[in-house]
Amino acid sequence: MPDSFLTNLECSYCGATYDSGEPMRTCTACEKVLFARYDLDRAAGARSELRDREPNMWRYREVMPVKDPTNIITLGEGMTPIIRAERLAAEVGSPGLLLKDEGVCPTGSFKARGLSAAVSKAKELGLTKLTMPSAGNAAGAMAAYAAAGGLEANVFMPKDAPFANRAECIAYGATLTLVDGFINDAGRLSAEAAAERGLFDVSTLKEPYRAEGKKTMGYEIAEQLGWSLPDVIVYPTGGGTGIVGMWKAFDEMERMGWIGVERPRMVVVQAEGCAPIVTAYEAGERHATLFPNPHTLAAGMRVPVAIGDYLVLDAVRESGGTALTVTDDEMVQGVKDLASYEGVFAAPEGGALVAALRKLMDSGTVSRDERVLLLVTGSGLKYLDVLGPAMGIGS
Ligand SMILES: Cc1ncc(COP(=O)(O)O)c(C=O)c1O
Ligand SMILES: [Zn+2]
Repeated sequence: MPDSFLTNLECSYCGATYDSGEPMRTCTACEKVLFARYDLDRAAGARSELRDREPNMWRYREVMPVKDPTNIITLGEGMTPIIRAERLAAEVGSPGLLLKDEGVCPTGSFKARGLSAAVSKAKELGLTKLTMPSAGNAAGAMAAYAAAGGLEANVFMPKDAPFANRAECIAYGATLTLVDGFINDAGRLSAEAAAERGLFDVSTLKEPYRAEGKKTMGYEIAEQLGWSLPDVIVYPTGGGTGIVGMWKAFDEMERMGWIGVERPRMVVVQAEGCAPIVTAYEAGERHATLFPNPHTLAAGMRVPVAIGDYLVLDAVRESGGTALTVTDDEMVQGVKDLASYEGVFAAPEGGALVAALRKLMDSGTVSRDERVLLLVTGSGLKYLDVLGPAMGIGS
C-alpha cells in the first residue's frame, strides 16, 4: 500500500487544479488558498490499520502529503491527550467538557503539526531554504523541524513576540529578524527575503501543507472519541489554520466513511483587541478587513488579517457555530482556571477558551447537555514573560 494517496492540489476558492509534485504557494489564478487532495476511495481502508500504528500524527499517512516516508521529519507530534475536565466542568456548568492539550506537542504548541508536515514536504520537493513570518510559536516549530531535517530556517517575528519564541529560534539555529511591527509587516519582509534570496516562504495557508498537519487534530478527535465528534469545538483563532484544517478533515473522513454527516459547531474565539474574523462574522461578510491597531497578550491571536478568512467563516457558518471575543484579563483568568482545576498550564490562547465557554453558557448558545471540546493550543510555559506579570510575579 502506498504511503500517501496525495493526487493534486486544488484551489479552495476557484477550483483550479495543480500538480502536487511541484512547489506551490497560493493559486496562481486567484491567489487564494490551495488544498491538498487525495484519492480518498483508496485511502478509506486505512482506518482499520490505525490501531497498530505509532501514536503521532503520521499515523494518518494515507491522507498526509509526504510520498516517501524517509522525508518525514517527526519529533513525535500529535496524539495529544483528550482530558475529561471534570472539575472545570462542574465550575462552568458543562458536564461533558473535554480539553485537548496541545501544549504537550514538541516545541510546546500545536504549531508542531503544521510545521512537521510543511517542512517534511518542502524537503521532499527539494526545497532547502525556508522563511516565514510568525507571531511566535510557528517560528519555534519551523526552526525545530528545519534543524531536525537539516534545512535552513529564516524567521521574521514582531519584536514583542514572547521571549521563549525568540530564544528557541536562536537555540535551533534559525536566522532571526525582529520586526518593528505586526505579523503582516513581518510577512512583507519574509516575502521580500524569499524573492531576493530564493527562499521558500511557508507562511500559514500561503503554502498547502501546514493545514495538512493541523487537520490531524480533526482526525485524532474522531479517533480518540471512538469515531464520533463533540457537539461543539471552541478554537482560539489567529490565522485560522487549525479550524480550516479540522473542517477539511471532517469532510475527508465523511467521504471515506469514517464518520457520518454530523459536525461539531465550530466556535471562533478572538481577542477583543484583535478580532477581524469576529467582526466579519457579525457583519455577515465572507472576508475580513485589516483589524486596526491589534493588541493582545495572546501572540498567536495577534493576527490582524488572514488569507484563509473565507474558509474560517464558511466553517463557522456551515456548522451553525459562532464567533466571539474575550479580553486579555479574561484569558489570564482562564489560564488560572485550566491550571487550578485541571492541572493544565495553558497558553493565553487556551485560557481564552474558558472565558469564551462561560459566555456561551451564560447566553444559552451552548447547553449543559452538549459535549464541548476546548482546543488548548499551547503551553503556558512558553509565555512566562507575559503570564508571570499578569499573574502578579516578575515584571
Ligand atoms: C498557542 C496558539 N494558539 C492559537 C494560535 C492561532 O492559530 P491559527 O493560526 O490556527 O488560528 C496560535 C498561532 O500562532 C498559537 O501559537
Ligand atoms: Zn483559485
